[in-house]
Amino acid sequence: MTGVHHGLGLLLVLLPTVSASSTGTVVRINRAALSYVSDVGKVPLQRALKVIVPPLLDWRGEMLQPTRIQILDVRVPHLDLKFIAGFGLRLMATANFTIKVFCIPEPLELVLPMTLTADAHVARGPIRTPVVSISTCSPLFSLASVLNGSNSTSPLLLVLVQKHIKAVLSNKVCLCISNLVQDLNIRLGTLIGLSPVGPESQIRYSVVSEPIITDDYIALDVNAILFLLGQPIVLPLHSASFVLPWPVGTEGVMATVGLSQQLFDCVLLLLQKAGALNLDVTGELNSDDNPLNTSALGRLIPEVARQFPNPMPLVLKVHLGATPVITFHTHNATLRLQPFVEVLATSSNSDFQSLFSLEVAVNLSLQLSVSKVKLRGVTSVLGDIRLMVAASNVGFIDVEQVHTLVGTLFQKPLLDHLNALLGMGIALPSVVNLYYTNSEVFVYEGYVVISSGLFYQR
Ligand SMILES: *[C@@H]1O[C@H](CO)[C@@H](O)[C@H](O)[C@H]1NC(C)=O
Ligand SMILES: *[C@@H]1O[C@H](CO)[C@@H](O)[C@H](O)[C@H]1NC(C)=O
Ligand SMILES: *[C@@H]1O[C@H](CO)[C@@H](O)[C@H](O)[C@H]1NC(C)=O
Ligand SMILES: *[C@@H]1O[C@H](CO)[C@@H](O)[C@H](O)[C@H]1NC(C)=O
Ligand SMILES: *[C@@H]1O[C@H](CO)[C@@H](O)[C@H](O)[C@H]1NC(C)=O
Ligand SMILES: *[C@@H]1O[C@H](CO)[C@@H](O)[C@H](O)[C@H]1NC(C)=O
Repeated sequence: MTGVHHGLGLLLVLLPTVSASSTGTVVRINRAALSYVSDVGKVPLQRALKVIVPPLLDWRGEMLQPTRIQILDVRVPHLDLKFIAGFGLRLMATANFTIKVFCIPEPLELVLPMTLTADAHVARGPIRTPVVSISTCSPLFSLASVLNGSNSTSPLLLVLVQKHIKAVLSNKVCLCISNLVQDLNIRLGTLIGLSPVGPESQIRYSVVSEPIITDDYIALDVNAILFLLGQPIVLPLHSASFVLPWPVGTEGVMATVGLSQQLFDCVLLLLQKAGALNLDVTGELNSDDNPLNTSALGRLIPEVARQFPNPMPLVLKVHLGATPVITFHTHNATLRLQPFVEVLATSSNSDFQSLFSLEVAVNLSLQLSVSKVKLRGVTSVLGDIRLMVAASNVGFIDVEQVHTLVGTLFQKPLLDHLNALLGMGIALPSVVNLYYTNSEVFVYEGYVVISSGLFYQR
């Protein structure tokens, strides 16, 4: 735990003060998530409530005698959480403490039932993470029942023992809840951790404003900042804030995440600036049947055949000067690329010689999916690839003719490259050990929605 503390402290020091553009992302934690927390939270709560009770001191004769008391077991049969609109959360729990009292002459066992109600305020903390704080905590104890025991226990002692246990637990139970909430806050703090996006680039989420809390959900407005070589990427346009409709996506899921177009624009800008989208297409350079060769091209462009009487390998240098444009229409995500392709030949002295260059336009359909904490993409070509000659060192080029050769040869490597890159995925907002499960991705006009379950790995 202290490790996490130190990590957070370090992060705080490293946090640059950035007022980069908003990349609207909304994370909605729904009621189903509270049921899940109630389920998985019982065991940790039971463990936390198994506190140490100091011995009871009472006068017997002239002596102050200690009576040892031990909590043998804690059962939490009910744990319920619900949202308090505009405020935070209410926790309601019932617990049975099985307590052993080492009284003389024989020990006895008691079961002490408790009902606990605690309210917690959820707010945005100073380091832009969600912070939970207990505002009220009231444990209520019922009469203890004696499990076994003997007639020899004096009723007076029983009364004293119960009074003592209740007084101790009243304090300790609320302290336990506070400690659990402290741990939770440390975990929530990991939201602002940096996650890699691509080569030399990272993403970090932070909470922009106070959470919105209704009876149905708690919504966090989260901003993503993307970094290239440690520098934040700033988008020129976009100032409109992103509003996620309600309900949206699949109902009844634990989490609903809305990702605005701005986020994707920013990620693509980052990948383009990082040069991650550029690639060189080469065939098997030393293979005998490398289809990327000057003799194949020479059949279409006479000047190539003239300059290269012997077949030489070709290289296609694909460069994305313009940022790809992503468009979200209901059920459709498309990516528009305008790569610049330079066609080079290896000459006899193994230098590269530029033959011609092409401006290419291609539309890709983008399928999105979620695995663990990452949003991944797969693309496929939509329609045709459009080619235009930008420059030529080999005279006239019939675009129609080179289309088949260059278009087909360049399409697969480009898709493989993009899919490898998008397959690595972008980290979604998350905290340590929390994963998205059974996620569905919906594409709407201008934004993407992820409806998902959550899984906490202890
Ligand atoms: C807890 O205590 C209550 C009251 O004594 C009892 O009715 C209930 O069965 C107990 N539950 C468990 C799980 O021991
Ligand atoms: C009460 O029960 C516990 C086990 O449940 C046993 O260890 C203890 O001796 C019993 N005490 C009496 C007084 O019967
Ligand atoms: C308690 O005392 C009564 C009578 O004094 C006796 O009948 C009973 O067996 C005792 N019970 C125990 C558990 O010792
Ligand atoms: C050149 O490419 C064509 C197909 O485009 C292929 O049939 C031929 O084997 C290749 N030649 C060499 C020498 O790689
Ligand atoms: C959306 O995608 C479907 C299937 O992929 C396609 O038939 C349709 O034309 C697309 N619509 C738009 C507006 O791109
Ligand atoms: C790509 O899609 C846009 C918008 O639908 C369209 O205007 C353009 O002609 C398409 N380009 C290609 C190469 O298909």
